[in-house]
Amino acid sequence: MITGIKGMNDILPAEIAAWHFLESQVREVFPPFGFNEIRVPVLEKTELFCRSIGDDTDIVEKEMYTFPDKSGHSLTLRPEGTASVMRAYIEHKMYAQNQVEKLYYVGPMFRYERPQKGRYRQFHQIGAEIIGETSPLADVQLLNMLCRFFGSIGIRDALLQLNSLGCPACRPGYRQALAVFIASRLDVLCSDCRRRHQHNPLRVLDCKVEQCRTACQDAPSVLDHLCADCSTHFATVRRLLTDLNIPFEVNKRMVRGLDYYTRTTFEMVSSRLGSQNAVAAGGRYDGLIASLGGPPVPGIGFAIGMERLILMLNSSSFPPSRPDIFLVTLGDKALEKGFSLLSGLQVDGLRAEMDFSGKSMKAQMRRADKVQARLVLILGEDELARNQIQIRAMDDGSQETVDLDRLLPILSDRLAAI
Ligand code: HAM
Repeated sequence: MITGIKGMNDILPAEIAAWHFLESQVREVFPPFGFNEIRVPVLEKTELFCRSIGDDTDIVEKEMYTFPDKSGHSLTLRPEGTASVMRAYIEHKMYAQNQVEKLYYVGPMFRYERPQKGRYRQFHQIGAEIIGETSPLADVQLLNMLCRFFGSIGIRDALLQLNSLGCPACRPGYRQALAVFIASRLDVLCSDCRRRHQHNPLRVLDCKVEQCRTACQDAPSVLDHLCADCSTHFATVRRLLTDLNIPFEVNKRMVRGLDYYTRTTFEMVSSRLGSQNAVAAGGRYDGLIASLGGPPVPGIGFAIGMERLILMLNSSSFPPSRPDIFLVTLGDKALEKGFSLLSGLQVDGLRAEMDFSGKSMKAQMRRADKVQARLVLILGEDELARNQIQIRAMDDGSQETVDLDRLLPILSDRLAAI
């Protein structure tokens, strides 16, 4: 038996209703905020992710699916969507058409992480990016949309945590203070942190090793080093969130696992998710587009982990869909007539099934029961001779015989009443 790849899951028909629900809510909630969908490839040149996410991050150092193609070019399965969307934004000169571009995407991402509940090697994100707005109003609009989306799918217990990571004006001062703090604890840090601390001390604060976390508990906070502009930006975001009644808490220790962030960063966390508690995350990346060779255009975005969202939804709210009709036929003639009837019902948009193999009536009824058809149609030689058919409602067992040429309107009535 050839099995699937560890950490890459099949989404089976019994689970698909929840995915369709999430995708339809994205398409309902995001467009009123001005967002259009973009679809970008799952494969990109490796360099794109190294330059954007950062060479020293866990994602780039340890988690990327990277391989040479047949011409020897290094390609990578996207570990996230922001870098690809920014690459497309620059490549298609989208900045020349619109001063502000709001884009969303839904699709698979790939990270070679140790699989566990809520953490997979192929997972799916719903992402949204506002490109071209420096105003804190953009931050708040994006967060409002994120909260509105959570509300629309019935999740009310995710907590928004907020931080600011400063900008190129104030970050160097903070890095310096952090580097001094880390240097005093170097002997207890893991080898990754010891290696990264000099040129990227923020990564040490994001380390998952317990010992490193404990050692950095009293590390200086970026919030104490923000410049006046970053402080004002952050204060405005908090004030406007409060005005919109969006609850949040400031988490001054949050640094995020990607290097491109500036100013506002955030995570939506839930205690229901166990150790992988972030169901969505994002932030501002005002220098990213320029660093990828584009114009100096700012941006802010988020990505929601769909598998984690689904863990939070009540799966019993998404029963697999039932057929409207199961058609039972008796005898060869009825089988053929039944088949053309079935085809007509399907073309008319009813979800209709039948058995093709001429099984006994009992076996066919058993199958109708198993698939939980709402109505069973029974077509035997007698009904065929009279141009009639029997309709049986599976929920209450009621039965009636109707003329075949009146079948469709009667079926619509009966189905609407169930
Ligand atoms: P991220 O924090 O790396 O950010 O991922 C966002 C979300 O994707 C996480 O909060 C989590 O719900 C989900 N996620 C990440 N890795 C896994 C995994 N291995 N298995 C299951 N779910 C996972 C980003 O990806 C940024 N691109 C977000 C962003 C958009 N920032 C600005 N714009």
